[in-house]
Amino acid sequence: MKKTHTPPTRNLALELVRVTEAAALSAGRFMGRGDKEAADKAAVDAMRLVLNSIEMEATVIIGEGEKDEAPMLYNGEVVGTKEPPLLDLAVDPVDGTRPLANGFLNSIAIAALAPQGTMFDPGPFVYMDKMAVGPRAKGVINIEDPLEENLKRIAKAEDKQLDDLTAIILDRPRHQAIINKVRQIGARIRLIPDGDVAGALMTSLPEAGIDVLLGVGGTPEGVLAACALRAMGGELQGKLYARTPEERQKGEEMGYNFDDIITMDDLVSSDDVFFAATGITDGELLDGVRYSGHGGESSSLVIRGMTGSVRWISANHNFDRLNPISEIEY
Ligand code: FBP
Repeated sequence: MKKTHTPPTRNLALELVRVTEAAALSAGRFMGRGDKEAADKAAVDAMRLVLNSIEMEATVIIGEGEKDEAPMLYNGEVVGTKEPPLLDLAVDPVDGTRPLANGFLNSIAIAALAPQGTMFDPGPFVYMDKMAVGPRAKGVINIEDPLEENLKRIAKAEDKQLDDLTAIILDRPRHQAIINKVRQIGARIRLIPDGDVAGALMTSLPEAGIDVLLGVGGTPEGVLAACALRAMGGELQGKLYARTPEERQKGEEMGYNFDDIITMDDLVSSDDVFFAATGITDGELLDGVRYSGHGGESSSLVIRGMTGSVRWISANHNFDRLNPISEIEY
């Protein structure tokens, strides 16, 4: 392979993981306490604080929360020390606010960075139909084609039979038709109560045993998943999903086309992308936060698109030392 030498540059994902760790450590205190808003606010406040310590000027393109009127990092908000590099930022301080508030599995803190102007801005349109696959099936899916065609192509690309495939789907009444169809085709199904970013990522982690993510989930989550999949060599396609004819009409008036396929390049058009996620409650992808009397432990996934490096980081945090110097109390 021809070499193109470029000097080592900053891996912002290693700074971004401090952001998701802080969010997880703060929000984890609210596990099972029945207060979604307080958990989200703790995560947002911690994220903002650490983001502002990173040498960058990042504009929030995806500030999750609007759907639930939750506290959020506002779209258009500029964070960082306001020095170059100029970046787009996507965050989901708590993906899985319900599981966190109820003490269920699979809530994580997520953030992604990419060069300025490269991330998809979904405006107020919070839902998106998604199909995501791992590297082996990249390039063979088309969300507009019948599901059976897509599953056959995925199976062929992965050298599997149709009944070897596992589709991960959010457990929602709106997905009953897809679930019926997958059953009729003969593939297996993993239903998840929440957390389709983790679901999408699992298509690109062979040990997770997931071949495809299907169904309608959050648009912010779609952009975040695309950032990770772009770095990991997978693919996500989507289409904006309107809940009502009025929402569709509003979108069309704003210039959004609900019939267009949203490709990886639309979702994030650069390979120079950084992604970090930290477990808040225990999950399939990541362990949740553990607290001891004087500190905590966290587990994170850290991905850099330019190099394709995927790191799993376990960290011990010393609250006795952190709390006196931090604006947040862990
Ligand atoms: P939040 O906790 O951030 O609201 O998202 C959880 C989640 O399960 C996402 O992973 C998913 O994309 C979205 O909700 C699906 O939306 P809904 O719960 O409204 O079907």
